[in-house]
Amino acid sequence: MSKFFITTPIYYANEAPHIGSAYTTLVADVLSRAHRQFGEETYFLTGTDEHGAKIAKKAEQASQHPKEYVAKIAAEFRQTWDLLGIKPNVFVRTTDKNHQYLVGQVIQLLYDKKLIYPGRYQGWYCVACEEYKEIPTGSKSAGSNPKTAPLCDIHRQPLEIIEEKVYYFALSRFQDQLIKIITAETLKIRPVERKNEALAFLTGEPLRDLPVTRSKVSWGIPVPFDPDQTVYVWFDALLNYLTFSGRNVDLAALQGRQTWWPASLQLLGKDILRFHAVIWPALLLGLELPLPSQLFVHGFFTINGAKMSKTTGNVIKPAKLVNRYGAEATRFLILTAFPFGADGDISWAKLDAAYTAYLANGLGNLLQRTVVLIRKFGLKPQTEAAAIAGVTKAYLANDLTGAIQQTIIMIDETNHYLAVKQPWAIKNQAKRETVLIKTVAALLGIAEAITPLLPRTAAAIKRQLNRLQPQPLFRRLV
Ligand code: MSP
Repeated sequence: MSKFFITTPIYYANEAPHIGSAYTTLVADVLSRAHRQFGEETYFLTGTDEHGAKIAKKAEQASQHPKEYVAKIAAEFRQTWDLLGIKPNVFVRTTDKNHQYLVGQVIQLLYDKKLIYPGRYQGWYCVACEEYKEIPTGSKSAGSNPKTAPLCDIHRQPLEIIEEKVYYFALSRFQDQLIKIITAETLKIRPVERKNEALAFLTGEPLRDLPVTRSKVSWGIPVPFDPDQTVYVWFDALLNYLTFSGRNVDLAALQGRQTWWPASLQLLGKDILRFHAVIWPALLLGLELPLPSQLFVHGFFTINGAKMSKTTGNVIKPAKLVNRYGAEATRFLILTAFPFGADGDISWAKLDAAYTAYLANGLGNLLQRTVVLIRKFGLKPQTEAAAIAGVTKAYLANDLTGAIQQTIIMIDETNHYLAVKQPWAIKNQAKRETVLIKTVAALLGIAEAITPLLPRTAAAIKRQLNRLQPQPLFRRLV
């Protein structure tokens, strides 16, 4: 049986999830359900990124120990995923003991291979991104005065200057190899514009080595060969894809290819492309471990053009959508707000319109009318589901938008078929039955096609066709 291992980034445990974080996790849930439904063995990994300065600061503001703070946020993530019917196979927490131990072993291994060496770092840092930023020309003299420091282009907050002893990872040694693997698609990056963007950073200038430890951040994994240092949060976080690629993974299991690693598909937002397309494969090359097959980079949910972000505070929580539309419809609305890969601005008006058009009217009416007709004409609805080869193919190619669009077309076409054939007006019983049998087959096909996206709705359709008790699938909005 072929295998499908899908990952989301692990989310900072600084705030409860919003619909931007729910988006990536839902995509992974739908794709993993689709691959499973269509015959593959699947493993879906998501979780929380729990160390670093940003989280320590947040916990301090809440007057809590970071450990307590992250436990509370991780629980909120789990509850939200549950509410949305998202079922990962593993929920990562980077404060997990086995993860911490293995990160220590990995950093030691790279140090022993002389791919990690001591040095000093002086430069800009964005705590919200937890990222070392290139020093903008002429702004070094600004010091760390927040009034004059340059702003992070994502968070619009002042950068900090940090100056400390660190250990560097020899990223620059991998530059040529990275260009080769991305160009040849040994590591495939989609959409293709993102592959080009990754190649642009790699071919633009010489890569600089990357600090992978911090001196002044105590909330992190201790560095085994220097107890005054902790592991840089991104190094710790990226390794989660290895350390949670099975149960109690250890180095021997990774080296012996006895875990789920390498991933088939790693999903990420465009803000963290450099980490996943440059640093991550370089670490894997350094560790002599296989590369993931594909990175898929998606856009942002924006509100009035600004990225929805926990740090900025302009967020919509998934529970708000669930209150208005129900959990299943929320899955649909989040995933159809814009094409997979692009950016999209959302508004309540657009969500309401999509809910009414596709769900309440489109699918809901179709089922209701069909069940009422069958009851009226006394037909036995057992019949074969229509073929859904196109949808299956799209899902297996991870073409989420294509799969959903084809499903919507199936619903529209079946509604149209009913409207044209008007079985309620056909006098000849055999002719009427033919129309109804075709409609039921189409509905069963639709139920198959929507199973990964709307699993409970799919079950409700089959149940209603079986029991012939019409019940609205999606209630009308008020
Ligand atoms: N902790 C790091 C990832 C480490 S992975 C080894 C991180 N966390 S995050 O919580 O800030 O973001 C996680 C993911 O959520 C990223 O892919 C990011 O792009 C995505 N999103 C955060 N806000 C988003 C929107 N407003 N819209 C869509 N996705 C967004 O980065």
